[in-house]
Amino acid sequence: MWSLDDIRLIFDPRKSQSLNEMHAELIKAILEIRERLAQLRKSDKTVGLVPTMGALHKGHTKLIERARDECKTVVVSIFVNPMQFNQEVDFKAYPRVLDSDLETCTKLGVDLVFAPKEIEMYPSPQLCTIDIAKIASHLCGSYRPGHFRGVATVVMKLFQIIQPDRAYFGEKDAQQTTVIRNLVNNFNIPIEIIEVPTVREPDGLAISSRNLLLDSTERQLAAVLYQALCKAQQMIAAGDTSALTVRQAATSCVPEDIRLRLEYLEIVDPVDMQPVENISGVVRIVGALWVGSTRLIDNVLCIPGD
Ligand code: PAJ
Repeated sequence: MWSLDDIRLIFDPRKSQSLNEMHAELIKAILEIRERLAQLRKSDKTVGLVPTMGALHKGHTKLIERARDECKTVVVSIFVNPMQFNQEVDFKAYPRVLDSDLETCTKLGVDLVFAPKEIEMYPSPQLCTIDIAKIASHLCGSYRPGHFRGVATVVMKLFQIIQPDRAYFGEKDAQQTTVIRNLVNNFNIPIEIIEVPTVREPDGLAISSRNLLLDSTERQLAAVLYQALCKAQQMIAAGDTSALTVRQAATSCVPEDIRLRLEYLEIVDPVDMQPVENISGVVRIVGALWVGSTRLIDNVLCIPGD
């Protein structure tokens, strides 16, 4: 029995082309993407948004594939957001590779790539910003002041522009995803937030564009962050309930090495990202490690006695 959707698929020439023949459509203007989405919404119901800063890797790919599986129209946004960078040099040095990102999006069957210029997103100073309370005051928030304000503000703008039904974020940046969940709940935004598990290298290192900045020795050392998180996870699963004991044991997994500096390793409540002392329920173990001049973050979820 054919469903209405099957019939639409057959008669929609864009959808009946093979993925290789289709091209992800590049749009740079807000007005244009709004008009394009209004047309698509007439036939395609669900719009999925994957917000990114580009330089797409296997982590991003997982989010896009999930969106492709679950939504009729997939939009990937590519925008290196100046508001979330603490240092101008980092913002300037951020990789910008739009052509290869477009190729990746085409291969993955993305419908629209929204890649606005800075002037399009911030035509005048952004006087209204999203302030985040305690979720952002801790962990990355305390080492990167204003970072989550910048993230929440640009994501709010993207949500208003695209108005997706679903938006996809990585568990790799758990604090960011928690901020976004709170954003949609607190402002009654009708968007379902989907969290996609972290994609890792074979040695456990979470995939990140920053991994490319590591030299070969640093790259080998970098895996200790995930090993330390796993040590904590094993102890909690085995019944350890003292966050202090678990933190000390996990921290000692990071060897004394001039190239390594652990910024934080914490055990937090996954809902509000606040530290816990006694582990009695599900917790997230989160860490940030400097490897040479590169800062890496990672986390794992942990269920006691699991
Ligand atoms: P960016 O660093 O490009 O990441 C885009 C999305 O990819 C985020 O949701 C991030 O959590 C996810 N991601 C990155 N590495 C991943 C991995 N190894 N496994 C799974 N998911 C991964 O995060 C941002 O951009 C920006 O802050 C943004 C949300 C776009 C706002 O500017």
